[in-house]
Amino acid sequence: MPQSFPELFEQFKVRQDAADVEMVLTGQYQRALELLEDAENAGLTPILIGPPGVGKTLLCRYYAQRRGKPFYWMTMDESTKPVHLVGSFDPAVTMRQGFSPESFVPGPLTQAMLEGGYFLVNELNRATEYAQNTLLEPLEERSLYLPRLGRIKAHEAFFVICSMNPQELAGTHRISEALKDRIKVWIRLDYPDRSTELNIIRANCPHADLPEETLDRIYQLINRTRMDPDVEQPASIRAGIALARLASVQAQREKGKLTTKVLRRVAEHVLSGSVKPRPGVDAEKLSRKLINAVLGGE
Ligand SMILES: Nc1ncnc2c1ncn2[C@@H]1O[C@H](COP(=O)(O)OP(=O)(O)OP(=O)(O)O)[C@@H](O)[C@H]1O
Ligand SMILES: [Mg+2]
Repeated sequence: MPQSFPELFEQFKVRQDAADVEMVLTGQYQRALELLEDAENAGLTPILIGPPGVGKTLLCRYYAQRRGKPFYWMTMDESTKPVHLVGSFDPAVTMRQGFSPESFVPGPLTQAMLEGGYFLVNELNRATEYAQNTLLEPLEERSLYLPRLGRIKAHEAFFVICSMNPQELAGTHRISEALKDRIKVWIRLDYPDRSTELNIIRANCPHADLPEETLDRIYQLINRTRMDPDVEQPASIRAGIALARLASVQAQREKGKLTTKVLRRVAEHVLSGSVKPRPGVDAEKLSRKLINAVLGGE
């Protein structure tokens, strides 16, 4: 008998204090964590800026967990409206009870303000100015107007963290000057140093028993994509993790032996979709060039 939805929901519901966030905290991550703490203690709003997959969301999640605070987050895009941040009235309950707090379903911003939680505004520069403006009052006055209900004041522990990918990436809006002026601590995260990145790969592949030599080649592959002038968006940490996981599974299939040929195949499958070439450069050719440079020609 398949389980019912309520049973499955109860079984798999994520509880705030459940899973421990594991994080590699060497190099830039330790510094970023300290800066987040300093920003909070100084009553300033920080923003994490860095390319995709560099650990911005994980860092905020880890920080909230370490401080023992509820954590809410939302990823902005073109269609994010103020109502998604603030909340709205449930039509059925409103029909019965009118516009009362009982019929209001708070959004993550409202919830974090009332509970004294942390609110991560992911990909801030993807939000339209319309959505960005909703953040002005909470950041400046620590208050928020709930339509038809009135204005709420934030719990004293409420804290906003923003994150974004660097502005030059396509498909993003600018942060409005008004909002920019309210964000005061700019924290850059970049691709980590070699030993930190290898530790991150190890931490994310606990079952992959890969020899140091293979891990080193994986790092070289990833790092190569970050230096090549034909690459517009290089391989992320996620791509390194994917290489290690797929390599480990393929090594098991080959009875523990990970030959250069197998690693090449793994790299072809992962890198061709993980690296964005500059306009006019062929993705397949580029990934072959990068692989040849590290693993040697065929
Ligand atoms: N310091 C770290 N320790 C452990 N794992 C990490 C670390 N940094 C990144 N990772 C790994 O990389 C993945 C991507 O991290 P995360 O989602 O936080 O990146 P992001 O910067 O928020 O990316 P995006 O810009 O795409 O939202 C994580 O799920 C985790 O597996
Ligand atoms: Mg993220």
